[in-house]
Amino acid sequence: MKIEVLVVPDCPHEKAAVELLRRALDDVGLTDVTWDTQVVADQDEAERIGFTGSPTFLIDGRDLFAEPGRAAGLTCRMYATPQGPAGLPTLDQLRQALAAVCQTGNAPAGPGSGREPTNEQRRHWQDTHAAHPGMYGAEPSTPAVHAAGVFRAAGADRVLELGAGHGRDALYFARKGFTVRATDFSSTGLGQLREAARAQGLADRITTAVHDVRTPLPLPDDSVDAVFAHMLLCMALSTREIRTLVAEVRRVLRPGGVFVYTVRHTGDAHYGTGTAHGDDIYEHGGFAVHFFPRQLVDSLADGWRLDEVHGFEEGELPRRLWRITQSLS
Ligand SMILES: C[S@@+](CC[C@H](N)C(=O)[O-])C[C@H]1O[C@@H](n2cnc3c(N)ncnc32)[C@H](O)[C@@H]1O
Repeated sequence: MKIEVLVVPDCPHEKAAVELLRRALDDVGLTDVTWDTQVVADQDEAERIGFTGSPTFLIDGRDLFAEPGRAAGLTCRMYATPQGPAGLPTLDQLRQALAAVCQTGNAPAGPGSGREPTNEQRRHWQDTHAAHPGMYGAEPSTPAVHAAGVFRAAGADRVLELGAGHGRDALYFARKGFTVRATDFSSTGLGQLREAARAQGLADRITTAVHDVRTPLPLPDDSVDAVFAHMLLCMALSTREIRTLVAEVRRVLRPGGVFVYTVRHTGDAHYGTGTAHGDDIYEHGGFAVHFFPRQLVDSLADGWRLDEVHGFEEGELPRRLWRITQSLS
């Protein structure tokens, strides 16, 4: 793996950029990896190599934060961060971009570089969203309809949705007047969501971010009022990853914030069947699911108020799920 930092002469962000890169590489386990710094001397060179601003981070020639259509030029670069435009990405954003490259198999080491279930799952979900656009239909899920009422009662405005897929629920929350930040590790699903948001005149209420929930949430502390996740925590995540994710949800929620999530549980017909990956994860038809025991639900609510655990069924199998509502004081 070849990493390069491209800068203009006397770039004011060069020093901070390489410090940030060192920290991000260390954080994703690429402690031995170094980089070359290249100075882009003039406009001709910028255009020749497609340089769109200083600093730029390249891995094997690919821009980690590529913005298709952006003109090449000898200029400073602005990064869209949760705190607004900035001269550098945040540490979280750089870590996530590095981890995403690792997951595509282009890097030799670090989290996400192996053939563990979640990395296979990312490819599988990308392919599935591409092959079946809008696979869950245009109507919201029943947990989303319920959650909208809970969120309204809690005085929520800013909703974060995790594992939003093609966005049937994010679109519903936006139609109900919430401001929605929708994330998923499938850029294909989120692309379908953005297209639908534009078509429905909801683009100003919904933002999207490609994000793997195994990495820190790309949001500041106390920055959302409510979090929603339908069938995301029961994806191919280890119990440890689930606990870390719930701690992250807690970090980004403001005091009094609400978290509504759903998971398939150990009463589901597929529990204990198919390909076993350990840690209550079983795979059927290429989809790996972590089936939740009740004890896991209870322990994830430690330090929260557990408002409700509601059993329901969905789909043809039917899938057996719990809808959990927990809130912060
Ligand atoms: C069962 S689908 C549910 C989609 C959506 N919540 C809905 O109900 O319409 C699970 C979604 O989680 C996403 N996903 C799975 N593992 C993920 C991970 N580690 N990080 C982020 N998204 C993930 C998949 O891409 C998929 O869109």
